[in-house]
Amino acid sequence: MNKPKVFITRRWTESVEAKLRDLYDVTLNETDRPLTADEFKAALQNYDAVCPTVCDSFPADVLNVENKRCKILANFGVGYNHIDIQAAKANNLIVTNTPNVLTQSTADIAMTLLLMTARRGAEGDRLVRAKQWTGWCPTSMLSSNVTGATLGLIGFGRIGQAMARKAHHGFDMNIVYFSPNSADEYVIQDLKAKRCDTIEELLKTADFVSLHCPAGESTKHLINAQSLKFMKSTAHLINTARGDVVDSQALIDALRTRQIAGAGLDVYENEPNIHDDFLELENVTLLPHLGSATLETRTAMGEKVLANLAAYFAGENLPDLVQ
Ligand code: DGY
Repeated sequence: MNKPKVFITRRWTESVEAKLRDLYDVTLNETDRPLTADEFKAALQNYDAVCPTVCDSFPADVLNVENKRCKILANFGVGYNHIDIQAAKANNLIVTNTPNVLTQSTADIAMTLLLMTARRGAEGDRLVRAKQWTGWCPTSMLSSNVTGATLGLIGFGRIGQAMARKAHHGFDMNIVYFSPNSADEYVIQDLKAKRCDTIEELLKTADFVSLHCPAGESTKHLINAQSLKFMKSTAHLINTARGDVVDSQALIDALRTRQIAGAGLDVYENEPNIHDDFLELENVTLLPHLGSATLETRTAMGEKVLANLAAYFAGENLPDLVQ
C-alpha cells in the first residue's frame, strides 16, 4: 500500500525527521526557508497531511484553495492563531496542535525574561561587551528584587501555572492571577495564589506582569495605552504569549517615558519584523521567540505531531484535536 503523502513546512529535529521518512512519503523543507502562500496552496492540493508551524500563515485565502487533497493540518506548535480556524472548519480540514510538551520550557523563558529585565541582565551584557564597564560601584546599575515580589499572571493555564510554580517555590514570589476561570483548589493552595476580579486590579498590584493568554480577537491589544497606565512605575511586563496581545507602540511609549520600569519580550506583533523603536530602548529585553526552543521540547513537539498523524491515518481519536 502507498504511504500517505505528508508535507512538512520547516526543518524539524533530526530524530523526528528520520521517523517521518520512515513512516510516510514525506516532503521536508531541506533548506528551511519560509514558504509562500502559493506553496502552501500547492501542498494542500497535493498532500494528504500538511504540517505547518507557528511562523506559517494559513489565512482563509490559502485554506479555500480548490481541489484539496489534504484533510488534516497537523500543526507543530501549541498556538494556532496563524491558522484561520473558521476557514479550516468551512473547508472540512481537521486541525491538531502540540500542547503540554512545551509548558516547562516556555515558563523557563518567561522566568528568564523576568530575571533579565528585573536585574538588567541584557543591559549589563551590552555594557561589558562595549568595554564601557568602569568597575563595581555601590550605585551602578541598580535594579529591583525578584525574590519576594508579586507576580501577576494574565491567563492561568498550563504555562501560567508552571511559571507561577517556579516563581513561588523558587523565588518566594506572591502570585496573583486573572483568568476567566478559577484555578483548581489544590493549585491555589500550593501557590497561595489570589485571583483578581479584573485585569485592572492585577495590573495595579503586580511588580511583574506576565502574559499567558491565547491570541485572538478578545485578547488583541489587551495591553494598551490605557491598561499600561494601571501598572506601577516600578513594574515590568513579560510577554511569552503572542505579540498581538500587546500594542507595541503603547508599550514603546510606556518604556520610553518610564511609565513602567521595563519589559521582557519573546514574541512580537508582525514577527520577525520587530518595531524598530524597541531596538533603541535599554529597558526592554528582546528574545527571538525562544519559548519552546530546546532540543528536547522541539523533539517532543515533533513526536506529538507524529502521534496526531498516526491516529488520523489509523482512523482513531486524535490526541490533540483543535477543530
Ligand atoms: C507555540 O507552540 O505556539 C510556541 O509559540 C512555539 O514556541
